[in-house]
Amino acid sequence: MTIVGEWVAACALDALQPEEALRFDHGGRTFVIIRSPEGDYFAIDGHCSHEKVHLADGIVDGHIIECPKHFGTFDYQTGEARALPACVDLRSYEARVEGNIIFIKI
Ligand code: FES
Repeated sequence: MTIVGEWVAACALDALQPEEALRFDHGGRTFVIIRSPEGDYFAIDGHCSHEKVHLADGIVDGHIIECPKHFGTFDYQTGEARALPACVDLRSYEARVEGNIIFIKI
């Protein structure tokens, strides 16, 4: 049975500063949690859609995360691929804060 839309605790609130990314593994899947310059939290698939490297190792600049391998970029608010060679969008996930924990809906 597949559970759709399960909220999962991903990390502590203070684990992320603005414009930082953190890898989160759950159920055999990898996500990246990102804190925006405004202090909001977002979650997208954790692997680049070009060659599957870990996006959490990339650089966050404004609302963009840049892949560390070939420097393709994604809008982490939506998962949209923004610069080649990344051309396939990533899935984005809802994120919310409860107490001192960031949850994502996967
Ligand atoms: S692996 Fe990410 S742009 Fe190539």
